[in-house]
This record gives sequence, structure tokens and C-alpha cells, in this order.
Amino acid sequence: MSDILVHTEAGVCTITFNRADKKNSITAAMYAALADALVAAEADAAVRVVVFQGHEAVFSAGNDIADFLNAPPNNEGAPVFRFLRGIAQFPKPVVAAVCGPAVGIGTTMLFHCDLVYAGDNAAFAMPFVNLGLCPEAASSLLVPQMMGYHRAAEALLLGEPFMAEAALEVGLVNKVLPPTEANAYAQTVARKLAAKPMSALLQTKQLMKKGQTALVLAQMNEEATHFGRMLTEPAAREAFGAFMEKRKPDFSKL
Ligand code: COA
Repeated sequence: MSDILVHTEAGVCTITFNRADKKNSITAAMYAALADALVAAEADAAVRVVVFQGHEAVFSAGNDIADFLNAPPNNEGAPVFRFLRGIAQFPKPVVAAVCGPAVGIGTTMLFHCDLVYAGDNAAFAMPFVNLGLCPEAASSLLVPQMMGYHRAAEALLLGEPFMAEAALEVGLVNKVLPPTEANAYAQTVARKLAAKPMSALLQTKQLMKKGQTALVLAQMNEEATHFGRMLTEPAAREAFGAFMEKRKPDFSKL
């Protein structure tokens, strides 16, 4: 079974994180598959809407930490950055169903989705600082815009997780559902979108996004430069080493 499943039916291309034993953490190979799936979905006239989903217990634990240590994404062609640019500029509607942990990019990719449905067990976290890193996916721009600066500081500087109801309150999530219903609900909404005139959907999304796209891409590029450098620095090495060794990191000298 592939770690990323792609299935198109009734105009809806569903992309599923399928690596439950590692909490759907994402390797470079998975980012490449995600980026390729978006390119194919954009080109395929049979695809009118894209849905991202995980499982009832977990959406994604974010970047695969071991993979990041072994092959840090240190240039703009890296699969993770290809995926992020792809989702940020994807012209067709994108729906996400999120249950359980959504860590790092598991949360930041949602800022580039049009509609987000969460199980009441969804736990969002952007612990970049705790990992000795900086935000990615233009989240350093989009989180303060969406949540206001002080709540963004809680999420990005303290790296504090927040649950589905809080995500609903700040507007990151459209609706909170029982985890058993979230994926099915996202499919229902996607099919509703798929029945609408494509030209009107595309034009409307383009108009809603156009003021932001250049800013988002510029912020993503700047973040990527810092993120790539910081991955190789002592703070990230300590944080990632601690995760692998299942111990608390020690930043006292960093
Ligand atoms: N990268 C690589 N492996 C990961 C991972 C990640 N981001 N997240 C989880 N895993 C692995 C664990 O190492 C463990 O593997 P093992 O069974 O071989 O020991 C397995 O997935 C289960 O994880 P575990 O931590 O035991 O599950 P949990 O239910 O207790 O906690 C999370 C789930 C998501 C809260 C926790 O795994 C976590 O915090 N992960 C790291 C998230 C993170 O910092 N991501 C990076 C963002 S840039």
C-alpha cells in the first residue's frame, strides 16, 4: 500500500495520508507524490475538487523527522516546497477533513485549503520554535492574519496546540463533527462543489486569492531559506535527536 493514496470519483480527487503507523508523518517521497497528485489533478478535467484526508485517529504528524535529518530540504526544488507552492496556487477548490493530531505542515497546509472540516478530536499544532525551526507554508503571514497577532504568538512562539473548537472560533475550521463523520462530510461538500459550474468556481477562487498570492509565495520563499538553514543548526539537531531518543530536548546552551 502506498503512503499517499489518490482516488478520483464523481469529480472529486481524494488524497489520503496512509502511513498510520508513523502517524501519517510525511517523507520527501510522500511530498513528491502529493506535489505530483496536485499537478495531475489540475490538468485532469475529470477532477473538479480535491479533498485531503487522513484517518479518524490522525491527520498528519507533519514532517517525518528522521527523513528531515537525513535529507534536509535545502533548496527550492525540494519536494516539500514543490508541494507547498502547488497547494498555495491550486486553482480548483480544495477541501480538508482533519481528525486527531495535525502537527506542523499538517496544520499549515490547511491555510491553503478552501474548506476545512474537523473531527472533535482534531488537535492542531505548529511547534516550529520547539523544534528550533521557523514557520513554513507562509504560516508566519497567514496565522497572524487569521487569528490576530496575539493568538498567533501563542500558536507560533509558544507552539501551543489548540483543539477543534478553538480552530472553529478563529476561522481555521468550518465545522466540527464526530471523527467518524468528518471524512464523509468532506466528501459530501466536495460533491456539492463538483456539481457547480467549474468556470464560476475557478473565477471566484482566483478573485478571492489574487491579492494574496504574490505575498504568500514571497513569504514561503523567505521562510524556506531560513527553515533549510535552521534544520542543520544545533537547536533543530537537539530537538530532533531528543524526539528520536524519546527524551526532553535541552536548549539551555542554545
Ligand atoms: N516523524 C517521524 N516519526 C514520527 C513522527 C514524525 N513527525 N510523528 C510520530 N512518529 C512516529 C513515532 O516515532 C512512533 O514511531 P515508533 O512506533 O517506531 O516509535 C510512531 O510514529 C507513533 O508515534 P507516537 O509519538 O508514539 O504517537 P502518539 O499518539 O503518542 O503521539 C503525536 C502522536 C503526533 C502527538 C506525536 O507523535 C508527535 O508529537 N510527533 C511529532 C510531531 C512533530 O514534531 N512533527 C514535526 C513538525 S515540523
